[in-house]
Amino acid sequence: MTAPASPDSTRPVHESLAREVSRRRTFAIISHPDAGKTTLTEKTLLYAGAIELAGAVRGRKNQRAAVSDWMDVERERGISITSAALEFEIDGRRLTLLDTPGHKDFSEDTYRTLFAVDSVVMVIDAAKGIEPQTRKLFEVCRSRDLPILTFVNKLDHPARDPLELLDEIERVLGIHAVPMNWPVGTGDRFKGVYDLQQHALLLYDRVQGGQRRAPVHVAGLDDPTLADELGVDAHLELQEVADMLAGAGAPFDLEAYRAARQTPTFFGSALMNFGLEPFLRALVELAPSPAPRPTTTGALVDPASPGFSGFVFKIQANMNPRHRDRIAFLRVCSGELTKDMVATNARLGGTVRLSRPHRFFGRERETVDVAYAGDVVGLVNPGKFTIGDTLYAGTPVEFPPVPRFAAEHFGALRLEGTRHKQFDEGVRQLEEEGLMQVVFPLAGRREPIVGVVGALQFDVIEARMRAEYNVPCRVDRLPYAHARWVDAGADGHDLKLPMTGVFRAVDRQETPVLLFESDWELQYTERQNPGISFLALH
Ligand code: G4P
Repeated sequence: MTAPASPDSTRPVHESLAREVSRRRTFAIISHPDAGKTTLTEKTLLYAGAIELAGAVRGRKNQRAAVSDWMDVERERGISITSAALEFEIDGRRLTLLDTPGHKDFSEDTYRTLFAVDSVVMVIDAAKGIEPQTRKLFEVCRSRDLPILTFVNKLDHPARDPLELLDEIERVLGIHAVPMNWPVGTGDRFKGVYDLQQHALLLYDRVQGGQRRAPVHVAGLDDPTLADELGVDAHLELQEVADMLAGAGAPFDLEAYRAARQTPTFFGSALMNFGLEPFLRALVELAPSPAPRPTTTGALVDPASPGFSGFVFKIQANMNPRHRDRIAFLRVCSGELTKDMVATNARLGGTVRLSRPHRFFGRERETVDVAYAGDVVGLVNPGKFTIGDTLYAGTPVEFPPVPRFAAEHFGALRLEGTRHKQFDEGVRQLEEEGLMQVVFPLAGRREPIVGVVGALQFDVIEARMRAEYNVPCRVDRLPYAHARWVDAGADGHDLKLPMTGVFRAVDRQETPVLLFESDWELQYTERQNPGISFLALH
C-alpha cells in the first residue's frame, strides 16, 4: 500500500501515480429508456469478464437483476433509479462506469453523475434515432464538453438508414458524427460490421446471444475477399457508402472527439453481441483518462499531483439492507486516497478520517486501500458530508458546487401508522441524499411537504420509505409549481401576497418558504415586495 500524500508533500509527480491515472476511464452511459443501456452495460461487463451471465440459459427477467440494478423498486419497474459505480478492467485499463437512471423523468441524480465522469457513451435505438431524453442528457454533456462515443443499437431489428441517423445526430445535436464502422445489412439481413479504421470485416452468426466468427482482415474495400464474403451486391453497396463518407465528412480526429466536437459512431446490436468489440476497443483506447479539474479559483488540479482531492457527488442511504448506513460517493480528482487517511472538508474546515473507504460493484462492497483520480469510493457518512463537498489533504482546494435544480412538483408526505420516529429519520435521510426538498407548513400540523424535480420521485419516496424504514406512507399531490426561500433577514409575515395560490411554509432552519401555484402568483409577489429576494434554492 502506498503511503498517504502528506500535506506538505514536495516529492515530484510520482511515476506510478501518473501511470495509474493514465489507465483510468471514468464514464457514464446516457440514453432514452429502452434504447439498450442496460443490455450494453451487461455486455460490457461480460466482455470484461466482470460478471458471469449465461445469456443463453437465463431468461431476460433474471438478466434484469444486473449488478447495477439493486433496488426492488428498480427491478419492479424495470428501470434503474439510482447511480451505482461499477469498476472493471479491460486490457489493462481500469474502467469505472457510473450508472445513470434511465427513466423519462428529469433526474438530478443523473445530472450530478455527469459531473463526476470524464466521458460518456450515448446509446441510440437505430429505429428511433434521437429521442427526447437523449437530447436533454446530451445538452448536459455538452455544457461540460464531455467527449461522447455513440453506439447505434438494435441493428438486428428493422432500422433507419445509417446515413440518415448520422445526419440526425449532426442536425439535432449539433455534433459531427464520424462513423467508425458500418453495418453490413440491417434487420434480418444484419450480418456484421465493416471496421472503417482497421479495414476488418466482422461477421457474426445469428445464434442466441450472438457469436462472432473470426474477423476477416482485408487490404481495403477493394479487396476481392470482401466480395467473396458479402456477395457482389452487398460489397458494391459498402463501397459506394464508403466513397460517399470519404467525400462527405471530416475523418476521425482524436482531438476533435476529446474536445466534444466529434462523436465517433459505432453500429451494432448489444443483444446479439454484434459490433461490440470495435466499440469497446474505442472505449478503452480513445476515451480520455482524468483531466486537470478546475477549482473555484479557476486554478487547475493535476490528477497526477500528489496531494489528494475529491468531491462528493452523491449520497445514498441504505445501499445494503444489512448495513443500513448512508454512503457518500466521492470522485477522486488528484493524488491518492488511502484507507485511514485524514482529509479536510473544505466546507466545514474540519478534518475527517477516511477509515473505511469502499468500492462498489452493484450490491457488493469491498474496502479500498488506495484510490486514484477517476476512482469513485463510498464513504460511510454519519451526516458528515453533503453533496458537493470537497475533501483534500495538503494544499487547500475547493471544487465548484455540483448543480442543483428547483423542485417543480410538490406533495404532502403522510405517514400511515404511528412509526413517527422512523418516519422522521427516513425523511431526513432522503432529504440529505438530495432526493427531495422538504418544508413544513407554517401553521398547523408539522407534516412534511416534499418537493421533487421529476414526479416519478414521489413513487420512489413512497417505495423507499416502506422498504428501507418500514414506514408506510403516501404522497398526496399539492397544486404548487414553485418554491421560493424568502431572503434571510426578511420577515415572511410582512410580505404582501395574493389572496390565493400561495402557501406559507418553513424549512428545517425555520427560514420562510413560499409555495406558489403558478408563475402568476410568484411574479405578483416579486412585484409587490421589491427589495426582497425569493430564492429558488437554499
Ligand atoms: P434501457 O436500459 O436503455 O432501458 O434498455 P434495455 O437494455 O433494458 O433494453 C430495452 C429492450 O430492448 C429490451 O427488451 C432489450 O432486450 C432490447 N434490446 C436491447 N438491445 C437490443 C438489440 O441490440 N437488439 C434488439 N432487437 N433488442 C435489444 P424488452 O422487450 O424490454 O425486454 P425483454 O423482453 O428482452 O426482457
